[in-house]
Amino acid sequence: MKHQQQEWLSTPKLICGLMSGTSLDGIDAAIVEFSVQNGKHIFTIKSHTTIPYSPEFRTEITRIIEKKSTIADISWLHFAISEFHAIAVQKACELAGITPHLLDGVGFHGQTVWHSPTPKKKLGNSISSTLQLGSPSVLATILGIPVVGDFRSADVAVGGQGAPLVPMFDANFLREENRSIIALNIGGIANITLLPALDHNGSIRAFDTGPGNVLIDAATRMFFGKQLDSNGAFAAAGRTVGAMLTQLKNHSFITKVPPKSTGREDFNPTWLQKRIRTTFQPSIPSEDIVRTVTEFTAWSIAENIRLFADTSSKIIASGGGIHNKTLISMIQKELPNTEIITTDAIGIPSDAKEAICFAYLAYRTLGGLPGNIPTVTGASREVKLGVIAFP
Ligand SMILES: Nc1ncnc2c1ncn2[C@@H]1O[C@H](COP(=O)(O)OP(=O)(O)O)[C@@H](O)[C@H]1O
Ligand SMILES: [Mg+2]
Repeated sequence: MKHQQQEWLSTPKLICGLMSGTSLDGIDAAIVEFSVQNGKHIFTIKSHTTIPYSPEFRTEITRIIEKKSTIADISWLHFAISEFHAIAVQKACELAGITPHLLDGVGFHGQTVWHSPTPKKKLGNSISSTLQLGSPSVLATILGIPVVGDFRSADVAVGGQGAPLVPMFDANFLREENRSIIALNIGGIANITLLPALDHNGSIRAFDTGPGNVLIDAATRMFFGKQLDSNGAFAAAGRTVGAMLTQLKNHSFITKVPPKSTGREDFNPTWLQKRIRTTFQPSIPSEDIVRTVTEFTAWSIAENIRLFADTSSKIIASGGGIHNKTLISMIQKELPNTEIITTDAIGIPSDAKEAICFAYLAYRTLGGLPGNIPTVTGASREVKLGVIAFP
């Protein structure tokens, strides 16, 4: 094993990372070359792309999360998601000017349809679980290259939350010598990684802060019939509904002490509808609702940073949410002393960051290296993440 590991790490490796997050907007793919220089991992991005899910495909996935699917539907999706990811890999390869056979591996996150890190008591056992659909074996066979998948299970099996896993990337590539960094990803759900300055040797922590785009998307869909609030334009045109904002803020997850993780199980369109019902009036302009939900989202991110992080850190933001200018400026207003930049400013395309992270985790697994950070996930030890399917 040691020998295999050294051999893997001795030459540059080309990996395609694949991520499809809680927003259910589609698949992000990134082709990244990793190598070792002076004992440190380095990377170069060769291409990245997003393949959107069609509204019908998204509905199929939401039906599972809402417990409306049959086992036949779930099995069908397990394979359909794999085939869809193959298209994403092929597209990313085209953009990089290579064929899939030139890849050394793929990191396939899969589509999360259930995430339950808190142990559930049943049949005398207390078991935590998480489920990402998509078969590494199907993808490896279609592409003819090794695929790493099922990244979260090993960490859950040793008592971890199975999330977040991105901090391994952040720790290796975003940490700074003498300034603490907060890596903020605004996907469907928002999460932060706290990276103390290297000269401080504090431990790395990371957790979900609550909703990212999920409620903004839901409000925009409900009131405008649109998929997203493009650049935050609706929110910018509205005014905050104070009573509604107070209702939204009253969710125990936001101020809960980390480690913590959440998902569509907690924050979803149904939850939003219930929460705003008592303060909703037909006379309220739709823009005001979207603005209020955006304000809540910005507050929830900022409140977690105020409560659990150092506000003099620099925030390096990524994820689709950074395109929502109103959201970002609200976060900045909440945290006036915190510098906010995006990963683009340091050469990492913000839309592709999580796909790049999963390429890195696959690189580590294929090289026999652990991928979780126990202080982050709560796992009892470091573990190699995932299963490797060979073609
Ligand atoms: N131009 C834009 N304006 C506003 N919001 C955007 C824009 N582009 C993307 N988004 C938001 O980003 C989300 C996708 O973010 P992403 O990082 O892919 O999340 P996830 O990892 O959960 O899939 C979309 O659902 C949308 O809310
Ligand atoms: Mg996405």
